[in-house]
Amino acid sequence: MNRFQPVARELAATPGADSLCVMPAAPVSPFGEPADVDLSLFSLAGRTSVITGASRNIGAALAMGFAKAGSDLVLVARDEARLNDHAERVREASGRRVETVAADVTALDAAERIGEAVSRVGRLDILLNNAFTGGSTLGPITQSPDLVWDEVIGTNLLAPMRLCRAFAGELTASRGSIINVVSGSGLLPTPGMGAYGVSKAGLWMLTRYLAVELAPAVRVNALCPGITTPDGVADHPILEGLLPHVPLQRCAKPEELVGAAIYLASGAASYTTGELLIANGGRPW
Ligand SMILES: NC(=O)c1ccc[n+]([C@@H]2O[C@H](COP(=O)([O-])OP(=O)(O)OC[C@H]3O[C@@H](n4cnc5c(N)ncnc54)[C@H](OP(=O)(O)O)[C@@H]3O)[C@@H](O)[C@H]2O)c1
Repeated sequence: MNRFQPVARELAATPGADSLCVMPAAPVSPFGEPADVDLSLFSLAGRTSVITGASRNIGAALAMGFAKAGSDLVLVARDEARLNDHAERVREASGRRVETVAADVTALDAAERIGEAVSRVGRLDILLNNAFTGGSTLGPITQSPDLVWDEVIGTNLLAPMRLCRAFAGELTASRGSIINVVSGSGLLPTPGMGAYGVSKAGLWMLTRYLAVELAPAVRVNALCPGITTPDGVADHPILEGLLPHVPLQRCAKPEELVGAAIYLASGAASYTTGELLIANGGRPW
């Protein structure tokens, strides 16, 4: 007898209970043998990923992680030398095909140039919008000039939207996925980071809309890192001041975001869309 059967019998004996559909009539245990766990679901073998902002810190780690998980790559950043250096490291470590596009994601021809690289590889399965700017100056919203709003909204919201729009067809054909990298500043206000926070809030809502509009073919999710520095060290007084709010009591290293991103990109997340995955050391803000 399973633990639901006494309850089911009692319900069945209750007058009028036959009009309720509470429990299945047959004694079906929900606790069968555990299904086989197929960890190959986490593999990105045979996929091609576009990753923007892939030359340093989080984007560089995601590029390395995706390649080691089996994905070919199209990597995007502005500084060509640094991008090519990292691409070569990824090729050597993974043996994957890695194309580079030295482009500013805000350029109107960025999608076209990235598309040419995608065509050379032959398919597109994953679009990871990671490139960003915090703005050339920080400060209260009422004191942030149009220049700051233009660069922040242009880089963090319009550029990802253009790439999603440009590649929706390829991603639909491959039943692929999109990951947009957002920020805690887009969920709750961070003093002095208003323009950045508003752009990331917009990116999160873009994620949710696209998850609805591109379903069921394309899954669209957001990844929210916590404070992440290349070596995991708080290298600025502002970061040191934030650490008491982080239960894990430290910054992240970029590679600590890789598993979450691979999950969202992979078949392991086949029933996850329109979702936000926060990897921020437990910071409740
Ligand atoms: N680090 C954190 O603590 C933290 C926390 C929360 C969220 N995030 C989010 O995580 C993502 C990555 O952050 P990060 O700290 O790793 O960034 P980062 O160290 O500043 O690196 C940014 C990357 O984006 C590229 N990039 C910047 N502007 C670009 C443009 N207009 N066109 C093309 N590429 C551009 C940069 O290369 P070039 O300069 O050569 O173009 C670089 O590869 C961002 O979306 C950010 O909002 C970061």
